[in-house]
Amino acid sequence: MDKNRRRVLLHSTGALAGLGFAQLGIAAPAAKAAGPTAGVHVELRAVRGRASLRPGNTTAVWRYEGKLLQGEAESLQAGDGYLGPTIRVRRGQRLRVEFTNDLPEPTTIHWHGLHVPDDMDGHPRHAVAPGQRFVYEFPVVNRAGTYWYHAHPHGRTGFQVYHGLAGLLLISDDEEQALSLPGGAQDVALVLQDRNFDRDNRFVYPSGGMGGGGMMGRGMMGRDGTGSGMGGGMARMMGVLGEKILVNGRQLPSLGVERRPYRLRLVNGSNTRSYKLAWSDGSPLTVLATDGGLLAASQERPYVMLGPAERVEVWVDFARWPASGELALHSLEFDPGMSMGGLALPDGARFPVLAFDLRSAGAAGAVQPPRQLSQLPAPQPGMAVNADRPKVFDLTMGMMTWGVNGRSFEMLEASSEETVKLGTHEVWEFRNEGRGAMMGMVMPHSMHIHGLQFRVLEREVSSRFAPAYRAVQAGLVDDGWKDTVLVMPGERVRVLVGFHDYPGLFIYHCHMLEHEDSGLMRNYLVKA
Ligand code: C2O
Ligand code: CU
Repeated sequence: MDKNRRRVLLHSTGALAGLGFAQLGIAAPAAKAAGPTAGVHVELRAVRGRASLRPGNTTAVWRYEGKLLQGEAESLQAGDGYLGPTIRVRRGQRLRVEFTNDLPEPTTIHWHGLHVPDDMDGHPRHAVAPGQRFVYEFPVVNRAGTYWYHAHPHGRTGFQVYHGLAGLLLISDDEEQALSLPGGAQDVALVLQDRNFDRDNRFVYPSGGMGGGGMMGRGMMGRDGTGSGMGGGMARMMGVLGEKILVNGRQLPSLGVERRPYRLRLVNGSNTRSYKLAWSDGSPLTVLATDGGLLAASQERPYVMLGPAERVEVWVDFARWPASGELALHSLEFDPGMSMGGLALPDGARFPVLAFDLRSAGAAGAVQPPRQLSQLPAPQPGMAVNADRPKVFDLTMGMMTWGVNGRSFEMLEASSEETVKLGTHEVWEFRNEGRGAMMGMVMPHSMHIHGLQFRVLEREVSSRFAPAYRAVQAGLVDDGWKDTVLVMPGERVRVLVGFHDYPGLFIYHCHMLEHEDSGLMRNYLVKA
C-alpha cells in the first residue's frame, strides 16, 4: 500500500505538485480522543459468510458483523445476514467504530452522507489491509436522516458492495423527535438492491478484463445479448444491472403492515440501477425527507426517482387502502438515455419492488403528516465565491474509462478546479452531455460528493433529451439537503457546496459503482 502511494504521488501532476503530505491531510490525522468516549461505540468486522437471500441454496457473501461495545441497545441492530447491522446515533454523539478487515483484500468503510474528517471518511488511500484494524471515530454532526455506510476500496467498490458490504446508519435529532413521526415497527428502512444469481444461487458479478463474453447479459447490455461484441470489462464499465430485486437482502418479500401511518426510508443500495418508484395504484407518494434529512414540508409526487445511493423518506398511511386490497411499490419504466436495450427489468417493463400485505382492520381514512417538518432555509447561491461562474465538471467517457473533464481517478490528484478553500461555498455544475462518448451513448450518473451535504440550485436539459426527461422530471426531489444527485442524460445540474471544518483530500464520484471503479471519481482538496 505504501509503495503504491509513493508511486502514485510521483506520477501526480498539476496542482498537486509542490504540496506536502500535511496539506493533503495524510500525515496529520485529526486528533482522536484517547479511549472510549460518550456516545456509540461498536465493533465491525468485514467477513466472508453465507446468507439466505432467496429460495434454494444460500449465497456466499461478504458482510459486516457488528457488536455493540457502548450505547443503548437500539444503537446497533443486527443485520439480516447480508446487509450489515443498522447503527442508530443521535446528532451530537460521538461514533466510534473499531473495524477489523477479515477479508482477503483491502477495504475501507465510507460513512455515506456524513460530515467527517478526511482520514475518517474511508477514502481508498486509507485502505485497511487484510487482517488489519482501524478505528473510525468522529462526532456526528449531521441532521436527522437516513444515511448508510459501505466499502470503498480502490477499483473494488462495486464488487464489495455487490457482495454485501453495506449497512444503514440512522441519525435522529431533537427537531425530528419533536415531530412524533411514526416510530418503532412503523419506521421501516427499505434497502433496494438488484443482483444476479446463477442456478446455484451464487452471485454473478462480471470480472474485469476484455473478452469475457460469458458476462454478456449480466452487465448493462441485457440478457438478450444486445451489444454483443463488447467484452465483460466493457459491459461492466457500463454498469451492472441485476435481474432480481432484493429488499433488505430478500428477493421480493411482501411486507406485512398495519393500516396506520408509516415512515418508509427508501435507500437505493444498487450498484447501477435507478428506480422510478410509485404506488401500484397510482396514488401519489408523500415525501418527507431526502439524503440529508427532513424537507421543510412534505411534498406529493406522482413517482420518485432514486439514483444509486440516493434516499427518500415517505409517509404512508396504509389505512387509505381496504384491508383486502393489494398494494405494492413499483418501479416504472423510463428511458435511461442509452438506447441499447435490456436496461430495465424485466426487459424495459415496470416491475414490482415490494408488495404490502395489509393486515388488521384499522380505521378507514388517512392521517396526514405534520404540516411543517423542519427549518430549511432556501439555498443562497450568492454566498458562493463563484456565484456567476460555476465550476464545470463534465462527465466524460473514454475508451475503457470514465472521467471528469477528461481525467480519471488518481489516488492523490486534485486539479486546480478541484481545489477549494476551507470555509467557502462554491457553485459546481455537473454536465452530462456525452462528451467523448462512443456512439453518442449517454447514461444517467448519480453524482456523490463526500464529506458534506449540498443543495441543488437548478437543472437544465438539452432539447435532444427533453422528451425522455419529461418522464422523470416530476420525480426529482431537489428541495432538501443532498449528498447524491441524479444527473440525467443531457442535463446540467448546478449545486451549492460548502466546505466546512475539515481540510484535506476528499472524493466525489458517480455512485454507479462500476462507473466509479472505472474512473468516474476524482479528489477535491480542501485547503485550510
Ligand atoms: Cu456512497 Cu464514495 O460513496
Ligand atoms: Cu455514472
